[in-house]
Amino acid sequence: MAAPVARAQALADGAATREALRAALAGFDGCPLAATATNLVFDDGNPDSGLMLIGEGPGAEEDRAGKPFVGPSGQLLDRMLASIGLDRTKVLITNLIPWRPPGNRNPTDAEIAVCLPFLRRHIALVRPRHLVLLGALATHALTGDKAGIRRMRGKWVKLTVPGLDTPVPALPMLHPAYLLRTPGAKRDAWADLRLLRRALDGAGSAR
Ligand code: URA
Repeated sequence: MAAPVARAQALADGAATREALRAALAGFDGCPLAATATNLVFDDGNPDSGLMLIGEGPGAEEDRAGKPFVGPSGQLLDRMLASIGLDRTKVLITNLIPWRPPGNRNPTDAEIAVCLPFLRRHIALVRPRHLVLLGALATHALTGDKAGIRRMRGKWVKLTVPGLDTPVPALPMLHPAYLLRTPGAKRDAWADLRLLRRALDGAGSAR
């Protein structure tokens, strides 16, 4: 049998719709996290909104609900979105890793590598006008830039996504779980939210 990353790539490439991609992920046995998770956590929100948020991976609540960002960091994320007039009808939310790592440990490089083809295909099928990358893991995995998130946050980058003709403007931000642990960083988060709002209003420098 082909190596897991090659199988992931072939399955992801073969998915012509978001629903087909969800089904392909649900049937994929090349990531060991699928065996220990309760549910696949695929996405939540509005795929036609033009704005896609990418977190790290499900925690305990998300694993139980099969939905991203429903626990404490999800509640903070909802408040952050509300502060710039957004809610889940106006964004699509997904994660770098669609299955909960046991005990909320960070995913390994191998686990990230096998999930990335699915995430990139997810982005290509949704065709967002803007992306928000929540936290270091999603930012590093998608941009390939391993600089610290405190340095990368708040600056738009262009993300080349296979299957899309033009790069997608992506804004790295601090992860809500980090903000819960580090309230002093909230000021940076609000600055980044204002940048996002400006870009959505067509006034920012995202493009
Ligand atoms: N943290 C994430 O990155 N994603 C979730 O879905 C929940 C918490």
